[in-house]
Amino acid sequence: MYDSPKVLLGLVIFLVLITFPIWYNIAGGTAEYVPELEKPVKGENCVADTEYMRSSHMDLLNTWRNEVVRDGDRVYTAPDGKKYNKSLSQTCLDCHSNKEGFCDKCHDYLKIEPYCWDCHIIPGKEMK
Ligand code: HEC
Ligand code: HEC
Ligand code: HEC
Repeated sequence: MYDSPKVLLGLVIFLVLITFPIWYNIAGGTAEYVPELEKPVKGENCVADTEYMRSSHMDLLNTWRNEVVRDGDRVYTAPDGKKYNKSLSQTCLDCHSNKEGFCDKCHDYLKIEPYCWDCHIIPGKEMK
C-alpha cells in the first residue's frame, strides 16, 4: 500500500531540491550577478545611459558601424551633449582602456567572444 502523506512529503522535498539553484539565486541576489568591472579611466558618463549601455551596447556599436561604413557619418552626439567619434577602438577603448578588466570580464563570464578584434585594434596591443 502507498503511504500517501509520506509520498507527498517525498515529492515536496524532491521539488525543493531540484529547484534549489533557483531559490538560492533569488535569495542570494546572484541572478543579477555582474562581474567586478574595472572603472573607466575617464569620463563621468558613458556615451549613453549606463543601464542602456549595459543592455544594448552591441546595438549601439552596430549602429555606429553602419553609419560610418555606409554613410561616412562619424560624429555621435551623446544624451549629455558631448560629441564623440563613432569608433570602437578610439572611443570606447579610450575610456574603457582596460579591455581585459572591462569588456572581457563580462564576455568571458558569458562565454562570448566578439570577433571585432580580428580587425579592430586593441590600443596598446600588437595586432594578432
Ligand atoms: C567618455 C568616456 C566613455 C566612453 C567614450 C565610453 N564609455 Fe562606457 N562607460 C563610461 C562610464 C563613466 C560608465 C559608467 C560606469 C559606472 O557606472 O560605474 C560606462 C559604462 C559602460 C557600460 C556599463 C557597465 C556596467 O557597469 O554595467 C558598458 C557596457 C559600456 N560603458 C560600454 C561602452 C562602449 C561599448 C563604448 C563605446 C560605444 C563606451 N562604453 C564608451 C565611460 C565611457
Ligand atoms: C556588463 C557586462 C558587459 C560589459 C562591461 C561589456 N559587454 Fe559587450 N556584451 C555583453 C552582453 C550581455 C552581450 C550580449 C550577448 C548576447 O546577446 O549573446 C554583449 C555583446 C557584445 C557584442 C556583440 C557580440 C556579438 O558577437 O554579437 C559586442 C560587439 C560587444 N559586446 C562589445 C563590447 C565592448 C567593446 C565592451 C567594452 C568597451 C563591452 N562589450 C563590454 C555584456 C557586456
Ligand atoms: C573583417 C574585418 C572587421 C571585423 C571583423 C569587424 N570590423 Fe568593424 N570595421 C571594419 C572596417 C574596415 C571599418 C571601416 C574603418 C573606417 O572607415 O574607419 C570598420 C568600422 C567599424 C566602426 C566605425 C569606425 C571605427 O573606428 O570603429 C565600428 C563602430 C565597428 N566597425 C564596429 C565593429 C564591431 C562592433 C565589430 C564586431 C562585432 C566589428 N566592427 C568587426 C572591419 C571590421
